[in-house]
Amino acid sequence: MAPLPEWRDLAALLPGRTTGDDGLAAPWRRGDEGALWFSRGAWALAAVVRWWQGAGDRPARLWLPDYFCNASTKAVRDAGAELVFYPVGEDLHPQWPALRALARSAPPDLFVLVHYFGHAADCGAAAAFAAETGALMIEDAAHVPGPTIGIGGDGDFVLYCPHKTLAVSDGAVLLARDRSALPALTRAAAGLGRRAPAPWPWLVRRLVQKSLPAALLGARVRLTGPAFADDAPLQAMAPTPVLSRVARRLLAGAQGKLAATGLQRRRNEETLRRACDGLAGCQAFFDSGPDAPYRFVLDCGDGAEDRFKALRQRGCPVETWPDLAPEVLAEPERHAAAVDLRRRLVFLPVHQSVAPRPLSNWLR
Ligand SMILES: Cc1ncc(COP(=O)(O)O)c(C=O)c1O
Repeated sequence: MAPLPEWRDLAALLPGRTTGDDGLAAPWRRGDEGALWFSRGAWALAAVVRWWQGAGDRPARLWLPDYFCNASTKAVRDAGAELVFYPVGEDLHPQWPALRALARSAPPDLFVLVHYFGHAADCGAAAAFAAETGALMIEDAAHVPGPTIGIGGDGDFVLYCPHKTLAVSDGAVLLARDRSALPALTRAAAGLGRRAPAPWPWLVRRLVQKSLPAALLGARVRLTGPAFADDAPLQAMAPTPVLSRVARRLLAGAQGKLAATGLQRRRNEETLRRACDGLAGCQAFFDSGPDAPYRFVLDCGDGAEDRFKALRQRGCPVETWPDLAPEVLAEPERHAAAVDLRRRLVFLPVHQSVAPRPLSNWLR
């Protein structure tokens, strides 16, 4: 599911100069935003929570969409945020009337809008909602390779997770529209911890993946991985919020690759879109468009589990949404669309390192 480094990228492993936060964030900044780097996006969200709480005397009320991976909430929970999960519809867009009703009793301090799977959410509507409720808006572009039309231009904060979209061991960047917040944000981030993850486990895994023949990788997919309905237990996050030096150098080398990554992802998505045309019981979840996808999202309705098993049998590293928060699962009617989407959608890789041939064979 993850892009692989090219051999020449590995020069980043040699000791050398590193780039500062703003310079390293150049491809993701649209203007004069201040940049702060972390190892993972979940830490960036926790830093915003700590920053907000540093100026006030109560927990930050953080609104997240109900279709949000529970594992990614661990750091904000530990930072003391009060979480409110707002409902998304079957199209993954916030259900604005329900949000407005909810805001009457528990208005957000921080409002997270997710650009799911690389596709632009409605920032105009979200910015209007944030203004109405007095919240700061965080554009969660964790699935997006880089800024584009409708993405990255409206949030008070914007979060990108290049460790998900580029071949880098770790790395997530938080952009703050108001640069004057940077010193306090930096202090809030430092309070999360000062250690960086070791990049070596990532490197070893990627080198093995690069070296093994496709048949062996396919066999591994068939034999391992969680079952369709498994929700991973909520685990403590490794206490390593800081961007590693190796990732900093890998990111500097990958800066020029965003456009090519986006193009390849769109091409791969089109290949899969054609391959699933006419496939019984399945259809592409997103329409064709200009955005660079993170995954190819296939809506399989009631047949999702069977399709998931069949894809895995063919060696496709297919995924489902990993888990939902217990607060969401406890109120399935209120969060009906999120629970339904967890059950219906499966995800196929479209990243820049996936070979073109297996793509269409998987969906034959
Ligand atoms: C929408 C969204 N936001 C944030 C995160 C957290 O990112 P990270 O895995 O870098 O902590 C995830 C994780 O998958 C995510 O899906």
